[in-house]
Parts: sequence; structure tokens; C-alpha cells
Amino acid sequence: MNSSEPVITLEGVWTCYGDSVIHKDLHLRVDKGEVLGVVGGSGSGKTTLLREILGLQQPSRGKVSLFGVDLADPDEKRQRAVRRRLGVLFQHGALFSALSVYDNIAFSLRELKCLDEEWIRNLVHLKLQMVELEPRHGRLMPAELSGGMVKRVALARALALEPELLLLDEPTSGLDPERSKGFVRLINGLQGELGFTVVMVTHDLETLNGLSGSVAVLADQRIVAKGPVEEVARLDHPYIRNFFRLDTDSALMEEGEY
Ligand SMILES: Nc1ncnc2c1ncn2[C@@H]1O[C@H](COP(=O)(O)OP(=O)(O)O)[C@@H](O)[C@H]1O
Ligand SMILES: [Mg+2]
Repeated sequence: MNSSEPVITLEGVWTCYGDSVIHKDLHLRVDKGEVLGVVGGSGSGKTTLLREILGLQQPSRGKVSLFGVDLADPDEKRQRAVRRRLGVLFQHGALFSALSVYDNIAFSLRELKCLDEEWIRNLVHLKLQMVELEPRHGRLMPAELSGGMVKRVALARALALEPELLLLDEPTSGLDPERSKGFVRLINGLQGELGFTVVMVTHDLETLNGLSGSVAVLADQRIVAKGPVEEVARLDHPYIRNFFRLDTDSALMEEGEY
């Protein structure tokens, strides 16, 4: 991949479920090192968009490319290589509930089948440290963790393979404002240190404002605006006006399922 090549491109993407059109000729480009918040109303198709970027779902029409590779390319090996370059934090079911924190983070490292347990232990401890947890937390089971810790462990797991692209779906939903802020600070800090590209879906204005990056707005079945938050917030569009200037209550009833 040459340095000017975008990390993500969506070109002319249509997504239809039966008669309902979710995305209509949607275009989006995300460059290397970009930190992008994606906002949009409940049911506007944010999670679907992430699923398409992840290759979990094919759009009805149009093209999705990651690192210059068309996700419709049938070459399984190439697709696997692309997937290995991204980390993801899902909104729900973030951790394997039957595995300890340690084993959750070690999971994808073990799947590589080329690291011995000592290496894995070092890497797991490093990831725990990155998300401000200690080695002893590795022994805990997901059910024993607070909401904020679940998110941080999920982040550690998403970062296990040192992804170049991190995708997060509503990572602060269910957290109180303080913990949300802490989590976004953590993302900013790690991104600054490691330089990966971030795409974060959120319906929360505070979370978006905390993220040190730009914003893309999903409305009217497409990305209606993308740019620095201050610039986008000034645009005259009903959803944007509502999201940035009025209340965020309507956006609080957010749900998403995988
Ligand atoms: N597998 C599916 N079959 C039919 N409709 C779906 C499916 N997945 C999502 N939808 C619908 O598509 C719309 C967008 O969903 P989603 O991407 O989850 O929105 P968001 O994450 O922005 O809330 C919603 O109206 C949802 O009900
Ligand atoms: Mg969603």
C-alpha cells in the first residue's frame, strides 16, 4: 500500500433490505492516521456501514475497499490478510464470557499459532498496561468486571494484533459520562502513540467532541458531510442542526445488533 492510498473507500454503496433502502449511493474515504467519528440517527445504518467495512456484510451495490483491496475480491488469502490489519470493538457481546480477561486478549494471538505462551504472556500484559489495567486483572472473568473495564478489555483485545485500523461501534454506550470521557481519552492517547486509523460510531456528542478528529454524518441514506467537527457543526442540515445544537435526547435511544 502506498502512503497516499486511503485505508477505507466506499464508492456508490447501496444497501437494501427488501424494499427499504438504508444506504443510497454512499461515498466515504478514510485516510491513514485519520480519526473519524461517524454520527447518525438510530437506524440510519451506522452499524451496517461498519459491518460492510469489516466484510461481514456485502452491500447490495457499490464497492468497499480496505487498504486498496476490494472486499468483493474472492481471494480468501488476501481477505484474511486484510482482516488481520484491523481491530474491532463491537457494541454488544464485546467479550467471550466463558474466557478470563487474559484468555480473551490472548485469543487472537493464539490463533496465529506461531507464538509461544511466554511471548503471549508478555503481549497480554503489555495490552493490559496499554488500557491501564494490571496483570492481576487478567484472572478476572468478564462477569466480574465493571462496564468501564469490559470496554477497556475489549479494546485491549481489539489491539492484540496491533491493527492499523480500529473500528468501534458505540464504545461509550452504557458508560457514565466520566468513564466515557476516560475511554475516549484512552483512544486518543493510544492513537497518538501508535498512529492507527480510527473509525468510531457514536450517537453521543460528548464522545464525539472528546475524540481528537473529524466527523462524518450519516443522514438521508448517505454521508452528507465530513470534516472537522467545528465546520460540520455549522452546516445547515436538519439532522446536523438537531445533533449539534438542540438536544441529543432523540439520539439517546440508540440500539444496534450484530
Ligand atoms: N439483517 C437485517 N435485515 C433487515 N433489516 C435490517 C437488518 N439489519 C439492519 N436492518 C435495518 O437497517 C436499518 C439500519 O440498521 P443499523 O445499521 O443497525 O442502524 P444504526 O446502527 O445506525 O442504528 C435499521 O432500520 C434496521 O432495522
Ligand atoms: Mg448501531
